[in-house]
Amino acid sequence: MNVNGTPFRTVWWESGRVRMIDQPLLPHQFRIVDMPTYEHTALAIRAMTVRGAGAIGATGALGMAQAAVAAPDAEFHAHVAHAANHLRETRPTAQNLFAGIDFVLRAIEAEGSNVARSREAAVAAANAFADDDAESCRRIGELGAPIVSERRRVSTHCNAGWLAFVDWGSALSPIYAARRAGADVFVWVDETRPRQQGSQLTAWELGQEGVPHAVIADNATGHYMARGEIDVVIVGSDRIAANGDVANKIGTYTSALAAAANGVPFYVAAPTTTIARHTATGADIPIEERGDDEVLYAWGWSDDGRFMRVRTAPASSRGRNPAFDVTPAALIAGIITERGIVSASVEGIASVAR
Ligand code: MRU
Repeated sequence: MNVNGTPFRTVWWESGRVRMIDQPLLPHQFRIVDMPTYEHTALAIRAMTVRGAGAIGATGALGMAQAAVAAPDAEFHAHVAHAANHLRETRPTAQNLFAGIDFVLRAIEAEGSNVARSREAAVAAANAFADDDAESCRRIGELGAPIVSERRRVSTHCNAGWLAFVDWGSALSPIYAARRAGADVFVWVDETRPRQQGSQLTAWELGQEGVPHAVIADNATGHYMARGEIDVVIVGSDRIAANGDVANKIGTYTSALAAAANGVPFYVAAPTTTIARHTATGADIPIEERGDDEVLYAWGWSDDGRFMRVRTAPASSRGRNPAFDVTPAALIAGIITERGIVSASVEGIASVAR
């Protein structure tokens, strides 16, 4: 997708380095940062320099390639296994991270004891995984665009745009495709407390693509649904269980409940790398619990260009900060994948799972 007219991906491989857009600086600064080793790449995932399920999946795969390139001949497989564990421990919920790491591990294992070929296979597999993410998201846009063309006032939560993947995005991809085909689209952007992925990332992306939108407080979504101003909800996902339950950014479940109460169809868009076939139901999905400072403080840019945090809660208060929640399959109208739009059910998920 374009940044001021220049095409960019969210994360990519360049001469052994993993390069990525520094997402916490958006929307006020656009900067590319380089990760020279897999340890730096892991830290970038943990610190949310790169974020969003597809993007951290590709980053995990590219980190594995860095580990393979740097691993000494003598302890190659032990080194690679250690790196895989290190990358796995960065964040617990997004299935794409584990899919990316395992994809590269399988490519390495296929080369047996030939270390030189294993290194080459790791780099090729990591780049193929990233390309696959971009192509799957492009296809999700193609398949989901008719939904948006018909129901043109769309609500979305968090950021499931191209910044959350390698390119195109999941929930925003049908919006981009419909808009490029001439549909008169409008997007209601939940700001997405506490990390503001909606107001900082989704709104910025939509602006770059010229899509009309309004940022609203998360708790305003039900209000606009009740007034008949939202035709459809499309969100992304960090992990889809085998029964069609969906984990996504905290607040998604509330939006799904409001949509059900108001007869608004609620869709999830995700590449099939987000499906966890061995996670039976939403109750089995590990939910990341983050530090309560994200809730007790607000972060932002002052008018004179300084990145600041201000405390909004009493000094003596503590908080709780689950990063994701689970929307039960029964609330979901359909799951838009690159392999088709399927029901949120055991049969629907099995029909597209890899
Ligand atoms: O910012 P994160 O990595 O904590 O959030 C992940 C997400 O981007 C969302 O949950 C998103 O809606 C899922 S689609 C990648």
